[in-house]
Amino acid sequence: MKIEPSLLSADFADIRAQIELVERAGVDGLHIDVMDGHFVPNITWGQKVTKDLRKLTKLTFDVHLMIEEPERYVAEFAQAGADIISVHWEATVHANRLVTNIKELGVRAGLAINPATSLSELDQILPYIDILVVMSVNPGFGGQPYVPTSTEKVRAARALIDGRGLDIEIEVDGGVTLDNIADVARAGTDIAVMGAGIFATPDPAATIVRARSLCAG
Ligand code: DX5
Ligand code: ZN
Repeated sequence: MKIEPSLLSADFADIRAQIELVERAGVDGLHIDVMDGHFVPNITWGQKVTKDLRKLTKLTFDVHLMIEEPERYVAEFAQAGADIISVHWEATVHANRLVTNIKELGVRAGLAINPATSLSELDQILPYIDILVVMSVNPGFGGQPYVPTSTEKVRAARALIDGRGLDIEIEVDGGVTLDNIADVARAGTDIAVMGAGIFATPDPAATIVRARSLCAG
């Protein structure tokens, strides 16, 4: 299972050192949460910060757009250096066109679903996506508690994807910590996002090493 620190919980006053720290600890990519204050009740950063962060590392940039009208911005985030762009099912009425557009930009397409969104709504879009992002918190903030029903949702998503022979990675985003990461891994997760679960611990590098060992079991 891949581990991606979410920069939402990083110290941006020391962001170069924070990225170097997690990169040295062997993470598989960086999760970059973009929030517009409309789709979610919080605001983070946009294309310019993403482009500047791109200069600091070669790690995979997994950009999570928690914004309204994502159609307007995917090209700019691709140009800013995103390797993955995940958009919310709940933020567009044209998911097929949007996902196709992201892939035409040469970027892997993720589709994120909120805790209250059922997998059954995705029947027609699944064949078009590269990554299914199962939100295990209500989006907008780091450090929130894991929504317990997410584990069963991941298990069901794994069975659905494998049953249809689709090549989709499952990403779990929100509330993942050392306390639940083994369950998250066992449920069939391919990518675990960890924000506070890494950056709010006394020794983030040791936390990453520990998280790896908990998933290996
Ligand atoms: C929440 C974001 C998540 C969040 C994860 O809206 O999409 O990526 O930053 O952070 P933790 O692991 O602290 O919940
Ligand atoms: Zn996220």
